[in-house]
Amino acid sequence: MASAARTASRFLRSTPATSSFRPAARSTRFALPTQAFRASARRGYASESGEAKSSSNAFLWSGLAAAAGAGAYFYLNGSDASVGVKGVPTQADYQKVYDEIARRLADDTDYDDGSYGPVLVRLAWHASGTYDKETGTGGSNGATMRFAPESDHGANAGLKTARDFLEPVKAKFPWISHSDLWTLAGACAIQELGGPTVPWRPGRQDKDVAACTPDGRLPDGAKGQGHVRDIFYRMGFNDQEIVALIGAHALGRAHADRSGFDGPWDFSPTVFTNEFFRLLVEEKWQQKKWNGPVQFTDKSTQTLMMLPSDIALIKDKGFKKHVDRYAKDSDVFFKEFSDVFVKLLELGVPFTSKAEDRFVFKTSE
Ligand code: HEM
Repeated sequence: MASAARTASRFLRSTPATSSFRPAARSTRFALPTQAFRASARRGYASESGEAKSSSNAFLWSGLAAAAGAGAYFYLNGSDASVGVKGVPTQADYQKVYDEIARRLADDTDYDDGSYGPVLVRLAWHASGTYDKETGTGGSNGATMRFAPESDHGANAGLKTARDFLEPVKAKFPWISHSDLWTLAGACAIQELGGPTVPWRPGRQDKDVAACTPDGRLPDGAKGQGHVRDIFYRMGFNDQEIVALIGAHALGRAHADRSGFDGPWDFSPTVFTNEFFRLLVEEKWQQKKWNGPVQFTDKSTQTLMMLPSDIALIKDKGFKKHVDRYAKDSDVFFKEFSDVFVKLLELGVPFTSKAEDRFVFKTSE
């Protein structure tokens, strides 16, 4: 998976702009040419297979996992081997968690466009993006999306798939908090899908249902630049950081039965690239004619989509200059995305470790 993603990523990054913008080879798939992206090529398109798939085990897993708090540093995976040094997990222990997530991503390709990676990135983002810098509430410290009402917030529709995907990992490494696991999984997915390294550090502790955040803290794709700024300024981001973060829409797709919107943003939704920005500026986007919420489609193939909040990034001068920079230079985007994604994943966490002690995980071969 990782090597296929990296191969494809290199392919995209070294191919002249226009030639990678082409209609999907198969009508219902969004894949790169087969030789460039083996993983995608063997995948069927099934938009909603994951939600129910692992949920039958979820109760069992969460029961097993419930025994583990942030301080319970023991494996329960068939042995009682202790973890880390004096019970405190080390970087090597967290690399094992990373490797397990990467292995599951590589093994379980029968979902959506062939990877659970995009929905893991969305889980990490929605767990973190509830932060409010004024009150210090929300953020990645707590994993309160495990509980209703937060799990039922409209913005979180579909994320049970991602939470369930990670439960067997939590059961295998019960010493890790859900909050650390979800953010680590976001970093892992970015790396495994061909993106930049995302330095990460542990220290989040799970909270109970009382810490659930109110509905409405996450952005609404139907809205424009004023709303986007309100939401992200509340978290403490500036315009450049907002644009970089939304570049994650190179990954995955919208699902009509989750958000109401439908379709992928580019032709390689399981590879992290700067294609979202390139297509935003190079393609002509017109309103889609359909019986659904207002969204935009590319004039050339009418198979891709942009949300009104994505189009806001080219309507607004302050945002557009960063869209242009990232469309032109993938390396700059990768660097600035990594920096701001690290910041996102750390919102609201009272770390005792220093920033320079972050771990850089080894991506799979
Ligand atoms: C204005 C800001 C944003 C809005 C309005 C927005 C909205 C949306 C919507 C409506 C979807 C489709 C959900 C579905 O139907 O499955 C989506 C998917 C996604 N978003 Fe965002 N988003 C925003 C920012 C971000 C950020 C900051 C990230 C990560 C850093 C991100 C990562 C993703 C990913 C990876 C998916 C694909 C998920 C999948 O394939 O299942 N988004 N977003």
